[in-house]
Amino acid sequence: MLQVSRLATIGEMAAGVAHELNQPLTAIANYAQACDRLLGRPGADLEDVRKALREIADQAVRAGEILRRLRSLARSQPMKRERTDINVIIEQIRDLVLADARVHRAYAKLELAPGLPSVSIDAVQLQHVILNLVRNGLEASSITASDPRELRLGTGLSTDGDVEIMICDNGPGLSAQALERLFDPFFSTKAEGTGLGLAISNTVVRAHGGSLGHRPNLPHGACFYIRLPAEPAGG
Ligand SMILES: Nc1ncnc2c1ncn2[C@@H]1O[C@H](COP(=O)(O)OP(=O)(O)OP(=O)(O)O)[C@@H](O)[C@H]1O
Ligand SMILES: [Mg+2]
Repeated sequence: MLQVSRLATIGEMAAGVAHELNQPLTAIANYAQACDRLLGRPGADLEDVRKALREIADQAVRAGEILRRLRSLARSQPMKRERTDINVIIEQIRDLVLADARVHRAYAKLELAPGLPSVSIDAVQLQHVILNLVRNGLEASSITASDPRELRLGTGLSTDGDVEIMICDNGPGLSAQALERLFDPFFSTKAEGTGLGLAISNTVVRAHGGSLGHRPNLPHGACFYIRLPAEPAGG
């Protein structure tokens, strides 16, 4: 089942990938030709050449990042679901979250509710999803000038009895454009973004029978939440 939905997603992405890779590749070709021209002139300005070479490097990194994410999706093992305490898998990535927050000069706070029911999940896949959402939140909180930058990672129980993981930032919140295209592969407002983070996260959460949603954070920012069906007690 997961294999099918994963392949469908890759299929949908294929056309987009060709399109997306075309941009950096065209840029690389253009800058390389520019270098060739610049170096052909007597007394060539090496600073201009260096700028063009930096562009080539940046564009190559971008193309590589797109491929890296798609490869990790295509290669990921069949889902290994186990009965798991969600707080435990979050504790396992606590240091990564705190380190990423430090890099973004943000303050991260973990609020894990005790006594939650177990969930049946592939822990590694879910940890990737959570780290994706944390990264998005940190990147968003870096946009607004208002300090301190804050990220909250919490767990709880939804009103329907689902186990919920919340990731809340105090960035600008979701733009109208982002709201429309949030889960579209390759939708990104970031210079270095692949726009695959949420598309992949959504696929993974749905394959677990859960849902990925969002709501505004107050006074500003976004909250993303993952809801996962609770396992019956003792089962
Ligand atoms: N917490 C957030 N606050 C505001 N906007 C967000 C938030 N999370 C996502 N977005 C918007 O949704 C877009 C898509 O997010 P997604 O994670 O899929 O890709 P990305 O972050 O741009 O690229 P990548 O994940 O490859 O770094 C982002 O570019 C941004 O515009
Ligand atoms: Mg992202």
